[in-house]
Amino acid sequence: MNNNSPVSIVIFGASGDLTQRKLVPSLFNLCRKDRMPQQFSIVGYGGTAFSDDEFRVHLEEGLKEFASFKYSKKEWENFASRLFYLRGRYDNEADFEKLDTLLKEKEAGPENRIYYMATPPGVFPQIVDVLAKTGQLAEDGGWRRVVIEKPFGTDLESACRLNEQIHKALDERQIYRIDHYLGKETVQNILVARFANTIFEPLWNRNYIDHVEITVAEQVGVEHRGRFYDKVGVLRDMFQNHLLQLVSLVAMEPPVSFEAASLRNEKVKVLSAIQPMKEEGISRRTVRAQYKGYREEEGVDPNSTTATYAAVRLQIDNWRWQGVPFYLRSGKNLKEKLSQVTIEFKEPPHLLFPKIDEHMTPNMLVLYLQPDEGMHLRFEAKVPDTVASMRSVDMEFHYADSFGKTAIPESYERLLLDTITGDASLFTRADEVETAWGLIDPILQGWEAPSGKQQLAFYEPGSWGPSEADELLARENRKWSTWDGRKQ
Ligand code: BG6
Repeated sequence: MNNNSPVSIVIFGASGDLTQRKLVPSLFNLCRKDRMPQQFSIVGYGGTAFSDDEFRVHLEEGLKEFASFKYSKKEWENFASRLFYLRGRYDNEADFEKLDTLLKEKEAGPENRIYYMATPPGVFPQIVDVLAKTGQLAEDGGWRRVVIEKPFGTDLESACRLNEQIHKALDERQIYRIDHYLGKETVQNILVARFANTIFEPLWNRNYIDHVEITVAEQVGVEHRGRFYDKVGVLRDMFQNHLLQLVSLVAMEPPVSFEAASLRNEKVKVLSAIQPMKEEGISRRTVRAQYKGYREEEGVDPNSTTATYAAVRLQIDNWRWQGVPFYLRSGKNLKEKLSQVTIEFKEPPHLLFPKIDEHMTPNMLVLYLQPDEGMHLRFEAKVPDTVASMRSVDMEFHYADSFGKTAIPESYERLLLDTITGDASLFTRADEVETAWGLIDPILQGWEAPSGKQQLAFYEPGSWGPSEADELLARENRKWSTWDGRKQ
């Protein structure tokens, strides 16, 4: 246990999916691992009618379905006794007063509170406003932190407005904008791989790297989220947050320390070095596509032009990365669930050995973020018993082999614990979220503009995406790499 101050956690939108699938299983597992403060309570707040007991039963059903760990009845009963529920509206001061009273009843000692927004994004500012009006954000009896789920705005303007609204009631240090990718072990390991080793960083620049590829592929389609997704699309859902976070970790300069300010300054700096795309670049540097059959999904407009897949070529204009393209792609209903960062190195400047085919396989470092978490280094080796034939071989590190199959916790565990201990390193700061929107906005506008509308491509479900994405790289004599590192 690393933090013993009592804490109350209020989850707004507690009857929703996120609470049942991720938040409560993660908090429960932290409790089982003895990482929660001795004294804590969790209050679910939402529009659905639940008694405390019904809420507990509902959450246990979720655990049975979604938790990746086994637990005993005693462990659950101990945890469940600290779960409560209050039915209320998000715009009603009297309901919020009741919440305050309930929390005060549970709190013996400092009133440290986390308010977690697991609601639809439209009500975030309203909740903050009513919390402020009912005096629940004042830090006189203990600290107050507010966790905000994505999406944080729908474009640059709305993100700036949201920041402005919540800054009226909260200091930036109290705001924890969550991006669950930063809670993933393998994503945090990008920093460890780069900055806790000496062997990679000297090569980590334009002198040795040909290009960087970031793939976040999903096998699932939009499932039951069609209505929401159709308004959002892949750029807002995946690029503005998860993919740009990956770019910033891969490309940032070494921070001076692992302190939140230092880390976040470097992330903002590298994102600011990316030139927002100009209109003429959009058709050459982006691909916008939809899977066939998407328009028949429940809740989706039958004429929808929402992209479920995008590929984007970014350029970072600084000393380290000048001339090194970053190719990003993400989509739904693809061949495999797979997230990886591929660092492809340049060919040797002079080759002594006869080339067997036109293109030598370049050295590659692949960071496998999920599902088979690990890192592979691909290099050339001489095939035994030949004069000078070469073949690519892999040096592989798998988390499961080194740390055990169950070593990787749910990403929300780390993020929730950091919220409790007050470490904001893995959360997105206001300027970071706005800088990221500044990069996505021009692409969205270019795609959605009535003039020069960029064509929507279509791809087969279960494929690797549209051929246009292959052409994006082929124009620069490159190919996407796949799961096992072989070229597609
Ligand atoms: C969420 C998106 O942020 O990330 C979803 O809204 C997506 O559409 C999910 O499916 C992917 O997360 P993960 O952890 O499964 O890669």
